[in-house]
Amino acid sequence: MRKPLIAGNWKMNGSAELVETFGRAFAEIDLMSVDVAIHPPFPYLDAARQAFAATPLKLGAQTLNPLDSGARTGEVSGQMLAEFGVEYVLVGHSERRQLYHESDEQVYERVIAALGAGLKPILCVGETLEERDAGLSEDVVLRQVGYVMARLEPGQRQQMTIAYEPVWAIGTGRTATPEQAQQMMAAIRGYQAGFDRELADALRLLYGGSMNAGNAQELLAQQDIDGGLIGGASLKVDDFTAICQSAG
Ligand code: 13P
Repeated sequence: MRKPLIAGNWKMNGSAELVETFGRAFAEIDLMSVDVAIHPPFPYLDAARQAFAATPLKLGAQTLNPLDSGARTGEVSGQMLAEFGVEYVLVGHSERRQLYHESDEQVYERVIAALGAGLKPILCVGETLEERDAGLSEDVVLRQVGYVMARLEPGQRQQMTIAYEPVWAIGTGRTATPEQAQQMMAAIRGYQAGFDRELADALRLLYGGSMNAGNAQELLAQQDIDGGLIGGASLKVDDFTAICQSAG
C-alpha cells in the first residue's frame, strides 16, 4: 500500500511569518496516514526546520546544483540541503525546464546529486498545451520519466517519487480531469513495470497543477494518484491542511 505524499511547493513565495503560521497550524494536526512536505525558498529552510520540529511536516527544497561544492555563484548543493534537514527535493520542475532551460540530462544529473546526498528526489514531468494538442502528451512524459528512471540502479529508483504536472494546468486554475490525470499515471506506472513490477507498485505518483481544497479529493481518489504537488494552494494554511486531510 502506498502512503500518500502531499508536497507544498511555495516557489518564490512565502515569508518567515508564513513558516511560523504553518508550524503552529501543523502542531495541532494528526497526520499518521499521509506524508506532508513543505518546499519553501532556500532562505527559509532553517527557520522551517525549527518551526516544523514539533509537527509532522517534512522539509523539501525546490532544486539543487549537481555539484557538491565549487565556483557556482548563487547555487546550492544537495549536501548543503541535507545538512539543513531537507528530506525531499524537486527536480525538473517545468518552470526550471522552461525558464532556466534545464535539459533532461541536467535533470538527470540533479537526480544523481540528490540521491548521492541522501535526499529523495521528486522528479517533475509534464507536457505543454501544444504537446497535448498534438497528441504527444504520453510520448513527452514517458521520455522525461525514462531519461532518468531507465538509468538508475534499482536501489536508487526506490528513493524516487514522480510528479506529473501538465504545464497547461500549472497556476492556470485549469486542472487536468481526474480521468486525464489517472490515464497518465497509469502510463507512467505501466512504463515502470517494464523494468520492475514490484517497484512500479511501490512508486509514488503525485499530481500537480491547480490542485486545491475543492478538487483534491476527486483527484486523490484515482487508483494511481498517490498524492499532490501543490503550488498556489500550499500558501494558504487552511486550504493546504484541507488537502492533506483529504489524502489521509
Ligand atoms: P499550482 O498548484 O499553483 O497550479 O502549481 C502547481 C505546481 O507547479 C507545483 O509544483
